[in-house]
Amino acid sequence: MEAGRVLISEEHIARRLREMGEEISRDYQGETLLVVGVLRGAFMVMADLARHITVPVEFDFMAVSSYGMSTKTSGVVRILKDLDAEITDRHVLLVEDIVDSGLTYDYLLRTLRLRGPASIEMATLLMKEGMQQVPVETKYVGFTIGPEFVVGYGLDHQQLYRNLPYIGVLDEHA
Ligand code: PRP
Repeated sequence: MEAGRVLISEEHIARRLREMGEEISRDYQGETLLVVGVLRGAFMVMADLARHITVPVEFDFMAVSSYGMSTKTSGVVRILKDLDAEITDRHVLLVEDIVDSGLTYDYLLRTLRLRGPASIEMATLLMKEGMQQVPVETKYVGFTIGPEFVVGYGLDHQQLYRNLPYIGVLDEHA
């Protein structure tokens, strides 16, 4: 299965996730971290990033949806599955595959801060440069990319391509 050109190779992703995991491990030294994967797109990033985190880690998942079947963000964020864990006084790290408009980030942080975590940050593999409609301060960013529609490594187009081991740019004419 090919999806246009390779934007970020498997090797680059692996190297960057290792660096991010090492940075997160330094920042949370002495703490236990609750790593929250934002489904569905984050499943691959979460699994590979977590292998490089050396502080004690618990895992939980949220499922949200913003895109529907379109390639454009709708601005509507829906919680499809909430956390199982209580996060009061916990150190929470949200893991995302991509921050695009920032509306999912904004909604998740506003919603989860109300539950009184000790801290809450986000790690995202990809950040789309200049596309945010709200202020976004993501602490851990893998790669900053342009406006292309990307797939792979958890990211889909109409639910396909999530299993690609690299980030590819979708060829609209394919
Ligand atoms: C994607 C991605 C983020 C969100 C980012 O999820 O995983 O959660 O969109 O976009 P935003 O910054 O414009 O809000 P999507 O809604 O496509 O669901 P999925 O994870 O199931 O693919």
